[in-house]
Amino acid sequence: MGDIFLACKITKIKAREVLDSRGNPTVEVQIFSKDKNASAIVPSGASTGIHEAHELRDGGSRYMGKGVQKALKNVKIIEKSLKGMDACAQKEIDNAMIALDNTENKSRLGANAILGVSMAAARLASECKKMPLYKHIAALYKNKRLLLPVPFCNIINGGKHAGGKLRMQEFMVVPNRAKSFSEAAQLVSETYHILKGIIEKKYGKSAVNVGDEGGFAPPLTKAEEALTLITKAINEAGYEKKISIALDPAASEFYNKNSIYLLHKQFTSEKLAEHYIRLSNKYNIISIEDPFEQDDFSSFSALMKKARFQIVGDDLLVTNTKRIISAAEKRLCNALLLKVNQIGTLTESLAAARLSMDHGWKVMVSHRSGETEDSFISDLASGIGCGQIKLGAPCRSDRTSKYNRLLRIEEELGSKARYARF
Ligand code: PGA
Ligand code: ZN
Repeated sequence: MGDIFLACKITKIKAREVLDSRGNPTVEVQIFSKDKNASAIVPSGASTGIHEAHELRDGGSRYMGKGVQKALKNVKIIEKSLKGMDACAQKEIDNAMIALDNTENKSRLGANAILGVSMAAARLASECKKMPLYKHIAALYKNKRLLLPVPFCNIINGGKHAGGKLRMQEFMVVPNRAKSFSEAAQLVSETYHILKGIIEKKYGKSAVNVGDEGGFAPPLTKAEEALTLITKAINEAGYEKKISIALDPAASEFYNKNSIYLLHKQFTSEKLAEHYIRLSNKYNIISIEDPFEQDDFSSFSALMKKARFQIVGDDLLVTNTKRIISAAEKRLCNALLLKVNQIGTLTESLAAARLSMDHGWKVMVSHRSGETEDSFISDLASGIGCGQIKLGAPCRSDRTSKYNRLLRIEEELGSKARYARF
């Protein structure tokens, strides 16, 4: 035991400013032990929930105010209190940073500074234990059932992730009847390319340029148009029995103060609920995320009583156990969208997942629209065995890095690999 402890002892923590998939700066943290080191890069959202942990940016003119030099300085402060600790002691490390920050939303040190350290520590611990990250996370989560997740793949981008008039943010294909993750990746990639041909034929070549999450952003205004295109692509691919559809309207982004939702026309929350039910019946929709604004609780609870699809809380829950407890009491949704940077530490992310599962909810691990080459979430989803992951389109390295990591995990697990069912 003594040897393991020495091998995992944190000797140095470095942080640097690197670029994310939108070309904005973000925090990379590298943690060292005597003879090993490991790094992690922090993602960043665009349609962020108002209750998320604080992402510390420098302001001023450098990088249009988005620099993270202050966060890097804060990693130096964190280094002082973590030096000498065991990288395997994830809870102690995360709790030490939470105590050092001592704010409700990590606004003093910045959730981006704290999360970089938290993720890199997990990676160093897995190196020290000579086990893959997903197995280390499974051990932290006390999960014995590794599971390759069903990917939720955003192949038409709207809202804040694209430049068009389509107000709903994400139109996803879900290969929930594939037999393995590798088959899932193949089904999604083929469907994506068939969709590209359909869009190009109908709207011209410029319509197949992609949005922030690698999905197409054709000149559409109504959700129905996007759903018709996707259904056509699924059918042409011959995968109507293997692929379903999911939506993330990200409704906080098209809500106004008078309780009106502004899509291609105005909707009251009651009309919007009817709209979702109608769409779900017509288009094989199995999951809808953030159907309403993040604090519009009565609308969530009314939809829960009627809907047969999964209702996922993203901005609603912000991976925060307090919001999860309250949403569970009020029966606002039945699945957690788990984004590590919404809360800022791995320990709190795992607690959010555990609490959600204890309530009988599903958990969907998620990327952000601003991503990097870091594939941490692929290990996280496999390790906690939650069965669902949101990845964007099978296009651009910031997205495919997650698919590719899952393909490698599946290969590594060999005959022990199990693909989730939805
Ligand atoms: P974001 O979008 O990363 O821009 O917040 C993703 C989502 O809303 O799920
Ligand atoms: Zn969302």
